[in-house]
Amino acid sequence: MGKKILVTGGLGFIGSHVVVELQNEGFEVVIIDNLSNSTKDVLKGITDITGVKPIFEEFDLRDKPLVVDFFKRHHDINGVIHFAASKAVGESVENPLLYYENNLNTLIYLLQELQKKETTSFIFSSSCTVYGQADSLPVKESAPVKKAESPYGNTKQIGEEIIIDTCRVTPNLNAIALRYFNPIGAHESIKIGELPSGTPQNLVPFITQTAIGKREQLSVFGDDYPTNDGTCIRDYIHVVDLAKAHVMALTRLINGSNKENFEVFNIGTGKGSSVLEVISSFEEVSNQKLNYKIVERREGDVISAYADTNKANSILQWEAKFNLKDALLSAWKWECK
Ligand code: WQD
Repeated sequence: MGKKILVTGGLGFIGSHVVVELQNEGFEVVIIDNLSNSTKDVLKGITDITGVKPIFEEFDLRDKPLVVDFFKRHHDINGVIHFAASKAVGESVENPLLYYENNLNTLIYLLQELQKKETTSFIFSSSCTVYGQADSLPVKESAPVKKAESPYGNTKQIGEEIIIDTCRVTPNLNAIALRYFNPIGAHESIKIGELPSGTPQNLVPFITQTAIGKREQLSVFGDDYPTNDGTCIRDYIHVVDLAKAHVMALTRLINGSNKENFEVFNIGTGKGSSVLEVISSFEEVSNQKLNYKIVERREGDVISAYADTNKANSILQWEAKFNLKDALLSAWKWECK
């Protein structure tokens, strides 16, 4: 087996796809997940795909003594990919302290353990939300971080700052923050995919649930934006492309190829698609007519966000291989399974 990697939130949507790609590359994977937004069925899905069952420990990273005990028992962890966090923008506005406690305390407890180690690699799940509405598009990593539109977005900004300050005084800690754009889709095996709990907050799971009849109608949040068709533009990236970027970033750190001990990369396709374009692409690949209506804008939405991916392309030697229709078709197949 290769290096031993901890994946927190490894039974979640993005985490589970990253676990599969890590195992495909020969890494030994340990998952910590509190199952607050996933189920143990995902562990079976991962095992069915790779034939290797990851080590799984169910506990909450907010419980510091359990985190300390974990690293005593797994002293041979070479790297950590940290997904475990709350991620619903709207919920974070309603319950900010839940987000500050869950998303920041858990990060702090993990970093405190990594500071004790000889050397280690840390990949942080960040988000394009840190840019807010960027002044110029496509968004480069050098674009200014703007005042977050939500406590969720703020936890990503503060999280990056906590890591930067920790790396500055911990030379043996090497970290990369990956700023995701909009992850969608499912693994080609259709054994893992997105499992939104309750009413989906995000566009694509709401589309697929509407198409299959779980939801009555999709509400399109505004068509009076200054874009071609009036609807917001986003960079929708296939979750498997996103997962592979994590393995490339981790490998960069394990190989000691990083130039700084904190680096940031945008992970997107580099292409923007409007909500109506996503809907028409979905109708084409699924051969379903989608029932939707235009409603008022959603508070906090930015008009347009899509990635400048040159840095990840050249430095990580990574690029997205799937396009929007590939990702939407995989999401639809997952919904229909
Ligand atoms: C996309 C577009 C909506 C739902 C957020 C977080 C980001 C990441 C992904 C966690 C927007 C429109 C949506 C619907 C709609 N989260 N929409 N009807 O807001 O770009 O990003 O989720 O990691 O950090 O900020 O994604 O899918 O919610 O919205 O019209 O029912 O679809 O207005 O224009 P978003 P989204």
